Amino acid sequence: MSIQRTAVIGSGLMGAGIAEVLAKAGLDVIVREINDEASAAGRRRIEKSLAKAVDKGKLDAAARDAALGRLSFTTDITDLSDRQLVIEAASENEDIKKSIFSELDEVVTDPEAILASNTSSMPIIRFAQSTSRPERVLGVHFFNPAPVQPLVEIVSSVTTADSVRDTVTGFVAEVLGKNPIQAQDRPGFIVNALLIPYLCSAVRMLESGFATKEDIDAGMVGGCAHPMGPISLVDLVGLDTCLYAAQSMYAETGDPATQPPVLLSRMVDAGLLGVKSGRGFYDY
Ligand code: CAA
Repeated sequence: MSIQRTAVIGSGLMGAGIAEVLAKAGLDVIVREINDEASAAGRRRIEKSLAKAVDKGKLDAAARDAALGRLSFTTDITDLSDRQLVIEAASENEDIKKSIFSELDEVVTDPEAILASNTSSMPIIRFAQSTSRPERVLGVHFFNPAPVQPLVEIVSSVTTADSVRDTVTGFVAEVLGKNPIQAQDRPGFIVNALLIPYLCSAVRMLESGFATKEDIDAGMVGGCAHPMGPISLVDLVGLDTCLYAAQSMYAETGDPATQPPVLLSRMVDAGLLGVKSGRGFYDY
């Protein structure tokens, strides 16, 4: 199966990055948003990232224009009827995601089409069960910023067909030029099973007055050669995304390491979501 016609649901931080990756790989991409304002914001996000890629010498102007030419936006999900691959990157709300999968199941006509979720931690099987084709549903989890981070987790549920897993793994490696790894449909998959307890620990360390955010970050950058410290990373990922991932993992495992710190919840309640909202633990 040669995947050419793709779609992304949502153009927030992750959706916009994924749409950019697909368009740069030469694919036709439709981005589905909830309204025109959200579409305009998503387009701006992609244009800004492509401009940065040009500034950094990663892309020439002609490739940028070609990528933008392959992208279109819609608010009408029925426009996705001819898609061969749809990647859902809506906000981390299980009910919203389930209803998106059920709508996609109704509108996407190709029985060979693949329906994927970029969820950080929610069970893929629940989205698969919202469709009549659970064998064609899987997780395709990108990392932020998607145009830069090379890794993609391929998450097979207990019903994902091996052929679907293999097609998507080949596509991610050969067409997108990313590094796929295979994860099971377990809370947090591979990366977030390790990362979310670490980020929660860092926020708890700050919350308890154990150390300043600057020193926590400096500790992991200078001591362990991480590209950024955990408090800055929570700001980059989004406090809301970190909170929802922790909540979802804690609900399933009861592991105290994933229990969301109260400070994280309060900051999300306050709309302090990190880089994307202009303020999180740091100001942007
Ligand atoms: N398009 C293409 N390339 C870009 C780019 C863009 N929009 N923006 C930056 N780059 C490239 C740069 O050219 C540069 O490449 P070289 O190293 O070859 O020069 C590289 O990316 C780094 O860019 P910058 O110099 O602008 O920025 P930086 O050095 O300050 O790095 C960062 C920024 C990439 C975010 C880096 O700090 C980093 O990797 N941080 C860790 C991010 C991380 O851990 N992400 C995973 C989060 S977890 C997640 O997403 C999953 C989840 O479910 C929660």
